[in-house]
Amino acid sequence: LEGAGLGLPPRIKVVLLGDSGVGKSCLALRYTRGWFDAGSKATVGAAFSCVTVALPHSGPSAKIDLWDTAGQERYQSLAPLYYRGAHASVIVYDVTQRETLAKAAWWLDELRRYAGQHMVLVLVGNKTDLADQRQATEEEGRALADSIGAHYVETSAATGSHVAEVFEGIVAQMA
Ligand code: GTP
Ligand code: MG
Repeated sequence: LEGAGLGLPPRIKVVLLGDSGVGKSCLALRYTRGWFDAGSKATVGAAFSCVTVALPHSGPSAKIDLWDTAGQERYQSLAPLYYRGAHASVIVYDVTQRETLAKAAWWLDELRRYAGQHMVLVLVGNKTDLADQRQATEEEGRALADSIGAHYVETSAATGSHVAEVFEGIVAQMA
């Protein structure tokens, strides 16, 4: 890892992937800025942000270079530009839109094939605040993640529930 052993915080490249509208940009915004944008617009190309992660209980700190990709189909061919060389990929689906779980399965397969065991994979089921609209159960999401050796977290970018866990978990695993 760049920076490791030089007295600098390690820099970890993380990419967010998943269908358009599942909440990737909102998760990035919640984690890096601490707020929620109910009117979030579809990302064009990709968006970059950098955030320092200090682990609770005085663990190591690290810098995350976070690439938030565009989920719309027309941008899909650009994705390898962002996941190439990534240490971790966060594959997001929307628990209220069952078809986004199928797309997440496709991404998990694609990344395992590309990176083998060398990339940390996290499957995230987002929008848990919309409990009455849920279409995919936690068991289904977890079973998919388990089948490919990915971690599993359920989040709400709207409330902030479990969002930090996604990123702190990656740093803890890399440190
Ligand atoms: P692309 O950039 O097109 O790939 O989409 P995206 O995955 O970045 O989705 P984005 O973060 O822009 O969110 C899409 C919509 O879902 C917006 O209206 C958000 O406000 C909403 N949204 C995102 N996360 C949540 C959440 O946790 N709960 C609820 N209720 N709405 C959310
Ligand atoms: Mg976006």
